[in-house]
Amino acid sequence: MKQHNEKSAAVLGLGKMGATLAKLLLAQGYGVTVWNRSTDKSVPLAEAGAKVAATPVEAVNAGNVIVMCVHDYAAANAILAPTEAADWKGKVLVQLTSGSPAEAERLEAWAEALGAGYLDGAIQAAPQQMGREDTPLYISGKKSAWEPALPVLKTFAGAPEWLGEGAGLASSVDLATLSGIYGTLMGFFHGARIMEHAGFPVDKYAGLLTGILSTFGEFIKYEGQLVHENRFAKTESPLSISVDASARILEQAKDAGINSAFPDYLAGMFRRAADMGLADEELSAMIKVLRA
Ligand SMILES: NC(=O)c1ccc[n+]([C@@H]2O[C@H](COP(=O)([O-])OP(=O)(O)OC[C@H]3O[C@@H](n4cnc5c(N)ncnc54)[C@H](OP(=O)(O)O)[C@@H]3O)[C@@H](O)[C@H]2O)c1
Repeated sequence: MKQHNEKSAAVLGLGKMGATLAKLLLAQGYGVTVWNRSTDKSVPLAEAGAKVAATPVEAVNAGNVIVMCVHDYAAANAILAPTEAADWKGKVLVQLTSGSPAEAERLEAWAEALGAGYLDGAIQAAPQQMGREDTPLYISGKKSAWEPALPVLKTFAGAPEWLGEGAGLASSVDLATLSGIYGTLMGFFHGARIMEHAGFPVDKYAGLLTGILSTFGEFIKYEGQLVHENRFAKTESPLSISVDASARILEQAKDAGINSAFPDYLAGMFRRAADMGLADEELSAMIKVLRA
């Protein structure tokens, strides 16, 4: 990789996130070249001191670290295709567009064939939360690309976390954490219907639920450790408790005549665990249902 002594970067994509990244780089004294499909979004960046490239090729030629942040990989790939004519040698492409592990691996192969390093990143924060010490930013890709790009990444998040050399790891973490969040959110929305049916204010219920999230977090860490170590002997929470609780949630939905899609799935999964003879094991044994 080139020695990136010169603080120069290019940002391709000036949506809400890309524009924020470009502003953070400018604030840290980087020479920043920007490009966006709709040219109007470049205007405030130009006023803040960025150079506006007429084409993606021009942007790639101007920066040492090339940051991509657009809607999806299809857009990113279409923008990048003509840059095969640019000078990519010794540069690093930092792809912060959300995507799948397979898309990240394909783009890494593309960048490396042109002589560039590649990093894939998952941003788990809103634009206004970027640039803070606690901003969650997960990065994967070769160490040889991580090292020269680190100063740029530290502009986006005080302590970006390198997950490993596999380019797809950041997307995997993104999907896995989103899966956890969406599972919780669907449970929350079903809970809101239980509360509406009971005539209890949903905002108050939201407060009660968030009040238990830190102790619930400790419990998730504990169960995660058990799954990691393949330990399923009963210690904290026998799976049978969840078999019964999820059956009660389903029964109440049917009695109340509220939507039962979520408890149908939930109770169905726990019933399957019980049918596999896991009821008398720790909750961590649920992973055996999903591995089967
Ligand atoms: N915003 C967040 O809170 C957040 C948080 C974490 C991760 N992310 C990720 O960051 C990425 C960008 O998000 P954003 O919030 O900046 O989105 P956004 O405000 O909707 O901006 C989308 C960007 O993609 C460009 N784009 C879309 N389709 C295109 C195409 N076919 N060809 C060329 N450019 C195209 C848009 O260009 P035009 O201006 O020309 O339309 C714009 O620059 C996404 O992958 C998102 O998942 C966002």
